[in-house]
Amino acid sequence: MPKLTYLGHDAFTLEGGGARLVFDPFLKGNPLAAATPEKMVVDYVLLTHGHGDHLGDGIEIAKANNATIIAPFELASYCGKQGVQVHPMHIGGGHDFPFGRVKLTIAHHGSGADLGGDSLAYMGNPCGFLVTMDGKTLYHAGDTGLFLDMKLIGERAKIDVALLPIGDNFTMGAEDAVTAASFLRPEVTIPMHFNTFDVIEADPYAFQQSAETAGHKVVVLDFGGSFEF
Ligand code: NI
Ligand code: MN
Repeated sequence: MPKLTYLGHDAFTLEGGGARLVFDPFLKGNPLAAATPEKMVVDYVLLTHGHGDHLGDGIEIAKANNATIIAPFELASYCGKQGVQVHPMHIGGGHDFPFGRVKLTIAHHGSGADLGGDSLAYMGNPCGFLVTMDGKTLYHAGDTGLFLDMKLIGERAKIDVALLPIGDNFTMGAEDAVTAASFLRPEVTIPMHFNTFDVIEADPYAFQQSAETAGHKVVVLDFGGSFEF
């Protein structure tokens, strides 16, 4: 039974298949983070894109744990140059890891990383992740707007848990996330990417209410809260 724990923003740990994964560990710069990078014990770090609130402390955590970073090719290559073990993938590709299967989906967003200097570093395309372990499938949408291909994702995969952004401005907002849930048809939807910054303030319980009115089960996780599925 995989166990998901919300660390705030888009950061989650996922324990299952005999491994411990962390998604988008933006902890140090996040005042609402429910963990510190030093406390993280993980085997894999999954990064959806190169923005600072997703790449976050990923390299530091991977180094400290001798963990492998799974990310789109360009971002993985950058991490590899920093001396971290990486497993590059790309959109549409899946791979069987010891803990289960990971497949990359599209995400409509950017991925340039501000590493200082005058320009942004190119990190390729952003992605979402489908992770299947212990017979269950989790979809981490990453940062994205609503897209019709979510219907295809929902048709091809039986999604148990979908992690969807609701904060608006940089990603879809709550209204589009309800439509995303109807495209994806997950057993449970969990909102993310809200309230970290003023510009992405959103009420997850208002989202829960409108999604449940539309027939979708929503679980709102507190920062530090867990959900087993
Ligand atoms: Ni982003
Ligand atoms: Mn973001």
